Amino acid sequence: MQRSSTKAPAISLRGVGKSYSGVSVLQNVDLDIAPGEVHSLVGENGAGKSTLLKILGGAIRADHGTLTFDGERTAIHGPRDAIRHGISLISQEGALVPALTVLENVFLGRWSQRLGFRRAREDRERFDRLLEFTGFDVDPDRRVDRLPTGTQQQVEILRSLARGAQVLAMDEPTAVLTEHEKENLLGLIRRLAAGGTTVILVSHFLDEVLKVAERVTVLRDGQLVITEDAALHTPATLVRHMVGRQIDVLYPEPDPVPADAPVRLAARGLGRGLVGGVDLTVRAGEILGIAGLVGSGRSETLRLLFGADRATDGVVELDGTALIKLTPRKAMAAGLALVPESRKEQGLVMARSVRENVALASLGGRRYGPFVRPAAERSAVDAASRAVDIRAAKTDAAIQTLSGGNQQKALFAKWLLRKPRVLLIDEPTRGVDVAAKTQIHKLIVELAREGMAVVVVSSEIEELLELSHRALVLRHGHVVGEFPRGAPREAVIAAAFGDVGETT
Ligand SMILES: Nc1ncnc2c1ncn2[C@@H]1O[C@H](COP(=O)(O)OP(=O)(O)OP(=O)(O)O)[C@@H](O)[C@H]1O
Ligand SMILES: [Mg+2]
Repeated sequence: MQRSSTKAPAISLRGVGKSYSGVSVLQNVDLDIAPGEVHSLVGENGAGKSTLLKILGGAIRADHGTLTFDGERTAIHGPRDAIRHGISLISQEGALVPALTVLENVFLGRWSQRLGFRRAREDRERFDRLLEFTGFDVDPDRRVDRLPTGTQQQVEILRSLARGAQVLAMDEPTAVLTEHEKENLLGLIRRLAAGGTTVILVSHFLDEVLKVAERVTVLRDGQLVITEDAALHTPATLVRHMVGRQIDVLYPEPDPVPADAPVRLAARGLGRGLVGGVDLTVRAGEILGIAGLVGSGRSETLRLLFGADRATDGVVELDGTALIKLTPRKAMAAGLALVPESRKEQGLVMARSVRENVALASLGGRRYGPFVRPAAERSAVDAASRAVDIRAAKTDAAIQTLSGGNQQKALFAKWLLRKPRVLLIDEPTRGVDVAAKTQIHKLIVELAREGMAVVVVSSEIEELLELSHRALVLRHGHVVGEFPRGAPREAVIAAAFGDVGETT
């Protein structure tokens, strides 16, 4: 689809560049995006995608170059300028006010008012109309910090729409969504574009990019490699531009679990709140997947297994012994590790260095008296960082200066260093680029081969079914099905939805 060239581009960048302490992360970017176009931005972790979006959204300022919106050359000095130009950024990190409700976040500063009084009913009606338009299902009265990440992001989208965004820039919006929610979001993007909204989409899911975008731009090491019609590309051609060479993105096959492998971790009747009566077993060397829709209790189940939330029912057993009154500290001492879903809230200390973060969980094991041995620590951290391919200028850099995907890899490395007997992983490759993703898959398969028991939650059905020996499906907090590796994904999706003649 070619746009007529008579229309002024909605956005025009010329010579845009950005450096951090002398290191250039974006160089000389020229880009025109038409009104109502869906434009996708792809590239490896650290390529500069988020940096570009943040410049558009006013979160950071470019060092060089010019920005033009609707033919008007402008400077964006901050988020307010961006909002004034109708640009709304849905960032990788999320930007909601945690202690406020969904409704308060969506209309913050833009309440319906008459004579200075808030008109609550009007806001609820506006909210309902937004829900209808987006197809989202969000409770307006819930506090946003109690919502799963996928739902929080929906709240951000609702807020952008409430502000009447002309340009919606989304940084990996589908990274935490399940198949159905992804499809819903792609449908919404199409509808928005058809209505004239310009959408810029950053994503590591290349097939999804090619489905929805009219044009695609590839960034590599801060430079624009190509901007072309999406119709000219396949995932493989995009990857070649992204990494500058041909690579295979294949799932490694896990080794069969030895017939005599002992049950390492078991849960019997485990429950709390929504999660009820979960039974599961994982043997040494086995990778068990947990599938389900957002809100089905997948992450909650992992948290119960780790004692991050205290189960009200049932028991967790390690090597046949019940872990009573389980807490994360006890779980860690017993050899369990949990790689959480949200790196910002649950996993990493943003202001600390990569090295400190990676070393954090395992310091105890390496401490001699009161002294940490810096040399041993450094080499162990470097090895773990290499294993997951963290790309940081130096390991002394603060975690917050790493790109999103590299932060995820750091979180993974942190738990690897502990060499747990049971690894619980929530969304192992969230925000990780295709090349690094294969690397993380290989690593998980390798760990299982060495006898680790692994439980993995992933919203990506394909990842789950290729990586796990078996996958359980949760619905409304209950196990509703079990599928072997390579089972048809449609069957798993149907089980997750309960499309089997039930009335709930
Ligand atoms: N505040 C900062 N200080 C120093 N370096 C930074 C800062 N923010 C980003 N960078 C660096 O800029 C580069 C580009 O980062 P950016 O976040 O734009 O990557 P990305 O393409 O979005 O990657 P990902 O796919 O992992 O999200 C990275 O090397 C990153 O470490
Ligand atoms: Mg990014």
